[in-house]
Amino acid sequence: MFPLWPTAASSTAHQVDTLYLFLISVTGGVTLLVIVLNLVFLFRFRHSKHPVAEQVSGSIPLELTWTLVPLAIFLIFFGWGASIYVAEATPPRDSMQVYVVAKRWMWKLQHENGVREINMLHVPVNRDVRLTMISQDVIHSLWVPEFRVKADVLPGRYTTLWFHATRPGTYNLFCSEYCGTLHSGMAGKVVVMEQADYQAWLSSGGAMGTFAATGEKVFQQLGCATCHRFDTQGRGPNLVGVYGKPVLLSDGSTVIADDAYIRESIVNPGAKVVAGFQPIMPSFQGIVTEEQLLSLVSYVKSIATPQQRDPVSNRPPVPESGAAKVQ
Ligand code: CUA
Repeated sequence: MFPLWPTAASSTAHQVDTLYLFLISVTGGVTLLVIVLNLVFLFRFRHSKHPVAEQVSGSIPLELTWTLVPLAIFLIFFGWGASIYVAEATPPRDSMQVYVVAKRWMWKLQHENGVREINMLHVPVNRDVRLTMISQDVIHSLWVPEFRVKADVLPGRYTTLWFHATRPGTYNLFCSEYCGTLHSGMAGKVVVMEQADYQAWLSSGGAMGTFAATGEKVFQQLGCATCHRFDTQGRGPNLVGVYGKPVLLSDGSTVIADDAYIRESIVNPGAKVVAGFQPIMPSFQGIVTEEQLLSLVSYVKSIATPQQRDPVSNRPPVPESGAAKVQ
């Protein structure tokens, strides 16, 4: 049988469904009311019974009623919808992080422990998962119907999406923004696994070091480390402990050092220069791929807590294993 609803497999799915049912009931009810009243009036005020039209003048109570009642209903729509929207737009802290790069016509996914996937996303059940997404060409949109989540994936800007899967299973991952010839084929699967299965899967993933370690390698290869030194002597700001904190800029304003700011500082360094530094950094636009940019974000994030660093090597500690990280 053709199913009316996709399975509800995330923590927000039922809220979305309830709101949707409410919207359908109210709008369907009003439509029905209009049709029924039309038929009743058609019959009651037919020409044979009322050959002469009657002039009706204004009525304040009536006008107030048909203005205020719909206003109240629409405000309920708005308030209810906004509360779900805000909840779906705000990833909980300590969400498991997955990085997504979309391109025509595939999804490239990268776990923080280094495991990479294409058109497949394995996640553990009962855990908040946050996707940081970017496109390397046109606009795409990531959609998992069973989770009732969807977000555009844009070139040049990070967007995020989060979900909390509540039942193990395999669900659809679609591109829902027309992006060219093979748009309809730009689909994959989300595999929600029990914790134990997920950890077994992770450890068999053949990860070559964490994603942050990849980022550190890129950081060295591009020569970032010559200016961004881990002391106060560099020609660029020391990046230790910067992630997530406010940064004072040369124009006196401040900005939070989030993913978007880090990416911008690499591809367009002149946009927001840190106070006390010269705008001497060259742009890395076109030199680094979106994956490398994400790995650099992951690296800067990994050195967010200064005291976690090894005093000798000045490196962040290597997580004991991927499995330990997801707990
Ligand atoms: Cu990507 Cu449609």
